[in-house]
Amino acid sequence: PLNLLTDTFGRQHNNLRISVTDRCNLRCFYCMPADNVQFMDRKHLLTFEEIEQFVRMVVKVGVNKIRITGGEPLVRKDLHLLIAELHKIPELIDIGITTNAMLLPEQAHLLKEAGLSRVNISLDALSPEKFKQITRREGYEKTLEGIQAAQDAGFDPIKINAVSVRGVTEEEIVPFGEFARKTGLEIRFIEFMPLDAENAWEREKVLFAHEIIEKLSTEIMPLEPTGNNAPTAPATEFQFADGIGKIGFISSVSRPFCQNCNRFRLTADGKMRNCLFSLEETDIKSLLRAGASEEEVLAAVRGSIHDKKEGHEINTARFIQPDRPMHSIGG
Ligand code: GTP
Ligand code: 5AD
Ligand code: SF4
Repeated sequence: PLNLLTDTFGRQHNNLRISVTDRCNLRCFYCMPADNVQFMDRKHLLTFEEIEQFVRMVVKVGVNKIRITGGEPLVRKDLHLLIAELHKIPELIDIGITTNAMLLPEQAHLLKEAGLSRVNISLDALSPEKFKQITRREGYEKTLEGIQAAQDAGFDPIKINAVSVRGVTEEEIVPFGEFARKTGLEIRFIEFMPLDAENAWEREKVLFAHEIIEKLSTEIMPLEPTGNNAPTAPATEFQFADGIGKIGFISSVSRPFCQNCNRFRLTADGKMRNCLFSLEETDIKSLLRAGASEEEVLAAVRGSIHDKKEGHEINTARFIQPDRPMHSIGG
């Protein structure tokens, strides 16, 4: 169709990430403040009906992939009911969720039955002490139980997201490599991005993908690129030389994938963002609540896509960190 969400750089936007809450049961330092978080007032959250209404509009202009994020999406009450409604929309070929897994022991089966297609799980450390240092909460055991619950419910593939931070996670690299080999789960190492709440990000703290590749290759065995990366996938995929154990790298800082970006976001309070790092937002909630027509809402979406910048500017002196930290934007 001619009416796809194509920006001025020719990128087609078919991938919508929807945050359903800015709350979380952990306090990871790269995403949230430690205490006294100012959470959104509940009346500002989009209702499930409003989210569904918006999705039904954007599928008409090419959106076919949805990812539910947070905060921690599973702390939003009855999330499976939203998944079940989205699952009825025939244009959607992929409905994923990105979660810290703590609530999966109770919810994995419900989510599977509701039609959720994929689960990505955030886990930055396999050592319980390191887990607590990063997340500043208890939750290590629950997270491991949650991973098991996702496997038991039949989710496949399950990807593990591990944010890598210099001076913090070096000791986790080899254990994760072995974990990937033992469990068959794909581990994706993610470069630390400037989206934390405490302005602690510095380039010196980014643990680069090439360093991790080197460490895994010398301490376990050589890693080889698999070559089968979808052009719009954020991760570059590798495999150990004996074919056992998949490792991905999301190198947003050292090797940005903005050129192939196909994503936009809806925050829990109903603001559309055309980039993780955008400084401007489009107020979808107000339009929906004012009874705007589909045409009017899609015009606003197109306007935002039209204004999308070429890519993030982390690697330049011009870079300005957005006001909202990651938990409030949606991961
Ligand atoms: P699939 O590839 O569909 O499995 O999902 P995904 O990898 O896009 O989603 P996920 O939420 O698991 O994201 C993994 C990591 O990629 C996140 O932890 C972010 O750090 C990073 N990421 C996600 N979206 C963006 C984005 O739009 N831009 C950049 N630079 N990084 C992103
Ligand atoms: N840099 C990189 N990744 C981040 N995430 C959250 N904050 C950051 C950051 N500052 C990741 C989480 C999760 C995903 C939704 O986003 O670990 O996997
Ligand atoms: Fe797309 Fe912005 Fe992420 Fe780059 S930083 S991949 S342009 S959302």
